[in-house]
This record gives sequence, C-alpha cells and structure tokens, in this order.
Amino acid sequence: MTAPTPHAAGRLTVVLGITGGIAAYKAVGVAREFVVAGHDVHIVATEGALRFVGRPTLEAISRNPVHTDLYEGVAEVRHVALGQRADLIVIAPATAHTIASLAAGLAGDLLGTTVLASSAPLVIAPAMHTEMWEHPATVANIATLRSRGVTIVGPDSGRLTGTDVGPGRMSEPAVIAAAALAVVGPRDLVGRSILISAGGTREAIDPVRFIGNRSSGKQGVALAEAALARGASVTLVAAHLDVDAPTGATVVTVSSTSDLQGAMRQHSATADTIIMCAAVADFRPIAVADGKIKKDAVGETLSLVLERTPDVLAGLAADRRPGQRVVGFAAETEPDDDRLQHIGAEKARRKGVDLLVVNRVGLTEGFGAATNSVMMLDGDGSVVARAAGDKLSVAHRILDLLV
Ligand code: CTP
Repeated sequence: MTAPTPHAAGRLTVVLGITGGIAAYKAVGVAREFVVAGHDVHIVATEGALRFVGRPTLEAISRNPVHTDLYEGVAEVRHVALGQRADLIVIAPATAHTIASLAAGLAGDLLGTTVLASSAPLVIAPAMHTEMWEHPATVANIATLRSRGVTIVGPDSGRLTGTDVGPGRMSEPAVIAAAALAVVGPRDLVGRSILISAGGTREAIDPVRFIGNRSSGKQGVALAEAALARGASVTLVAAHLDVDAPTGATVVTVSSTSDLQGAMRQHSATADTIIMCAAVADFRPIAVADGKIKKDAVGETLSLVLERTPDVLAGLAADRRPGQRVVGFAAETEPDDDRLQHIGAEKARRKGVDLLVVNRVGLTEGFGAATNSVMMLDGDGSVVARAAGDKLSVAHRILDLLV
C-alpha cells in the first residue's frame, strides 16, 4: 500500500519527527512513503533516535539534511522556521517521553519548538511497551493531545521488542503515511488562484456613521481557509471581518462597495475563480456629510437620500474571461424552501453566475453563526447540491463542486 495519489498533485512540506525508540528504524519507511508520493521531507531526529538509526540513512532517504540540534542554524531561526514552513508534522515513532512533552507543550529540543511554532496538522504514531502505553500518565497525555486535534495512528498490537506481546507496536509506515495525508485532505486546487470577498461593506453617512450589515465574514474566511488547505493561492478582499483572515492568504482590506468593487476588478484579472461572499450594501447615501451631522441642526427627523450601488457580482460575471468561474451568494429571509429556491434561481440567472450559494438568514440565523445551511444552484437555477454544518465543511462542499 502506498500513499494515496491525489496528494501527488500538490507537494507538501512534511516535517517527520523521529524520536528515540527501537521503532525508529521503521521511520525510514515512513520517510520513504512521503518521498515516493512526491513530498518534500525534512527530518527532525532526536539524539535518541540517531542511536537507533543512522543520519546518512535518513538523509539519503529524505534527500534533505537531518536536523537534531536546537543550536544549529540559529541565524536562520531554524527552531521555528521548520514548523512555520510545514504543511504537515508527523512524529513516528512517538515515545512515551515525547508524548508527555507534547502534552505539556515543552520546547526543550528542536522537535518541541518545531511543533509549537507550527499551525500544521500533527499526526503521531506511538510506539512503546504495553505497560507504558497503558499507564494512566500516557493515557491522560494521549487524551490531551486528541482534545487538541492531534491525530493518533496506532499503536498496533503484536510482538514487541522483547518476547512480550501486546499493544504498543508502531503502525506500519504505509498506514502512518496514508493516515497523515488523509488529515491534510485533498490538494486538488494546487496552481489555482481564487479571489474571495468576505465580510460586509459600509457606506459612510458622515465621518462617524455608516450604513452596514451584520455579515461577520466567517463563511468567506472559511472558504479562504479551505482553498488554502487544498493548495490554492487565495486573495481575500476583506470588508470589516469579525474574524482573523487565514495565514497564507493575500489580504486586501476594503470598506465601501466602491472600494470592494475596485479591489475585485483589479484582482479578478489573475483569478481562475471569483467567489463573492461579502454582503454588499445595495444603497449608499448620495452625499457624505463633511462634518458630523448634529441633531439640533437637523430637527426631529432625518431623511437620507440613498442611491443604488453598482452590482459588483453581475459586473464581474459579465466581464469574466473564458474559463473563469464566478460564484455568488444570496442571503434570503424567505422561510419557504420552494420559494427560496425560486428566488435563488431568478437571482442566479439575473447575475449570470456559474454557481449561487443560497442561505436563509434571520435575526437569529445565518449572520455571525458558526454553522450554515445552504443550497447551491447552477447558472440555470437548478439545485446541484445542499450542505449543512460548520462553515469550514460548507466551504469544502462548495469547493468540491468547483473542482
Ligand atoms: N452583490 C454585489 N453587489 C451588490 C449587491 C450584491 O456584488 N451591490 C453580490 C453579493 O456579494 C452576493 C450576491 O450579489 O454574492 C447576491 O447578493 P444579494 O444581496 O443577495 O442580492 P441583491 O443583488 O442585493 O438582490 P436583492 O436585493 O433582490 O436581494
């Protein structure tokens, strides 16, 4: 069994941590699995690991220098650089000692600093004697790591180093590599450039007031995160986000519809796909007051004259290059499912999009929530898919359709 092929399309930077247990010799096979699947493997071996397996073997297999010492490469800040660059960190074998260090967040060696400096998924393959694996300390440490989202592969049950038999054998290299690559997910957007708008625009009334909307930007940021994880290069046009933009995206900050339109037009030139997730103001004050509007000067009522804003999405769809795909969103308050679809279908045709993602919003649903429930319509208005769940999984479902 070898690592699954979809990943071969996107080269991952894999940091392989090898710690000091007899199963370290099998880590050579783990490195080989990643190399054969086309990934760039950087081994961080503890001193203990190098007593079990030779540095030249690891360097020959990984085709990269093996790192051990926290005090090597200080000028290039290697103790954090490896972790920051990693798409995936795999520790195989992970000894009881390493597992305890990870659970405690210790940074006493290069592997510890690398893990702490990284936001990449962490996969560990424990290997130790059964008594150590079943010890309450190890059980608690494993539970801590799982609760932090660490993936634990194995251990298998079987013959251990001595004559004893039981759980504690490190899983087979191919199983570890396949499980680790599955955590990273498909890399099916490598080489693609995706432009996403997120958040909500604001239209100034005067220097202190604006007309805005309740969009948090969470769904657009989730789309950016999902696209980055799948290997795309992402430009995020961000209008007043309540959440942080993901690391790795090129972020263009905007405020008004006109700013957003300018940024989207500029960056659409190099985008394969455009996703208009931002909630755009449909109307803006015809004139913005130069100074703060004072109530005593206005009286008991204030009338604002608003004008329609340009339809950014329809413009992008009309001007799209051959092969460029344009996705729109529609937030509707219509409670009836059939009528919602009807409104969505009409909007998809009117805007000229390839895909329209329709969701229901209300004072208590939609905006700002962690979850979403959407129906997706093609350009003719036919329902092609539905998705519900946290905004990241909805984002992946939308990208699945585009892929
Ligand atoms: N949109 C846009 N420019 C606008 C208004 C909306 O680009 N001036 C985009 C939104 O980003 C979204 C899609 O159009 O992707 C649908 O937005 P929505 O507010 O649901 O549609 P409207 O055009 O405002 O239509 P209606 O007033 O009928 O709801």
